[in-house]
Amino acid sequence: MRATDIIGKKRDGGELAAEEIRWFVNGYTNQEIPDYQMAAWLMAVYLRGMSHRETVDLTLSMAESGDQLDLSPVIDFAVDKHSTGGVGDKVTLVVLPLVAAAGVPVAKMSGRGLGFSGGTLDKMESIAGFRVDLNDDEFLQQVRDHGIVLSGQTKSLAPADGLIYALRDVTATVSSLPLIASSIMSKKLASGADAIVLDVKVGMGAFMKRRDDAAELAQIMVDIGTSAGRQMVAVLSDMNQPLGSAVGNALEVREAIETLRGGGPEDLRQHCVAIGGHMLRLGRQDTSTYAMAQSMTEITALMDNGAGLAKFRELVEAQGGDASMVDDPDRLPQARLRDTIHAPMSGYITQVNALLVAQASLELGAGRARKTDPIDPAVGVMVHCKVGDRVEKGDLLFTIHANDDARLARAQDYLLRAPVFRSREEQPLPMFYDTIYGNK
Ligand code: URA
Repeated sequence: MRATDIIGKKRDGGELAAEEIRWFVNGYTNQEIPDYQMAAWLMAVYLRGMSHRETVDLTLSMAESGDQLDLSPVIDFAVDKHSTGGVGDKVTLVVLPLVAAAGVPVAKMSGRGLGFSGGTLDKMESIAGFRVDLNDDEFLQQVRDHGIVLSGQTKSLAPADGLIYALRDVTATVSSLPLIASSIMSKKLASGADAIVLDVKVGMGAFMKRRDDAAELAQIMVDIGTSAGRQMVAVLSDMNQPLGSAVGNALEVREAIETLRGGGPEDLRQHCVAIGGHMLRLGRQDTSTYAMAQSMTEITALMDNGAGLAKFRELVEAQGGDASMVDDPDRLPQARLRDTIHAPMSGYITQVNALLVAQASLELGAGRARKTDPIDPAVGVMVHCKVGDRVEKGDLLFTIHANDDARLARAQDYLLRAPVFRSREEQPLPMFYDTIYGNK
């Protein structure tokens, strides 16, 4: 085979055979195919797209490009979740312990945040001592002993994705649905999941701004998983406004703990019940409608009776974290400066722009613009308003947690633009737009 033939075939709109895709991906991973040829191929895929079969073959090639975790010695059936990334999305921190507390083990590999969306590992590292660099043996041992583990992805897992993603980032080929879907799903397949719940975010604070695109991405990922023999569910959820109130690492951990104590913002609670319900239902391999209702009731009970919180504490301790921070969240990192933003007028809130809130949080130091940037766990924004709320002039809208005056001022600029008011009544935003099932 020749790389130029494969690039040319895709350039001309042809459909690549499984062997051609595998040869190309392996050649690139082994450094036999140079960046410029992969870059040309990626642009051809970006412009021409991929058939369903090609996308599945690309995903499998990337999943098989390195180590694949075999969870079967420790778990009969592994259930995982993935969010495409949002603002204030701390759902993993809440649902993992809830599902584990229900007796369904969870072994999750997560990522760090980049750009406007936060990463689960960064959030968990707000807890002093919490280790996210477990090796495979430690990972397997912990899920065996505790039924819950949350760690970073090892470099040897789907290495083709890491290499290809870095190239996509600098060749304007990130926003291609088959490339996004294969990137996400290759990592999920390689990390050993039997069932996967996808939370595909749509809106101003999401990767996918349009519902049609999000629905198509969700469907492609569900199809890939189903073709690879996995049980799949994808929900399309709103990300026009932040999820819950807290945006920023330690602030989000605190809110997750509150939610596991039976409190927390109502939208976050409902979101966790839905995602946790799907995970539990798939984990128990009972896909009936009745099982979903039962799973949601069970997740709610575990949230309210403290069992999920106890599991979260166990997770923190097992990975070397300071569990006293779970018992007393005031011990989590706290910012030096606080400031508030109030409603400039009375009316109904018609928008709380999630992207602007995320940019404010990024300005404060809660996120990173480049992979190597350090983050400040203490800083962020508390959002006190939701679309549909009636507010009076002077009501509290945001609390800023900062460690630097200049950054605080820049965050204010973003937040002043985030809310939009109108005099007529406004409906709350829906939390979910659709649910897509792999096997009905
Ligand atoms: N997340 C991923 O892991 N890959 C993409 O291509 C986009 C988002």
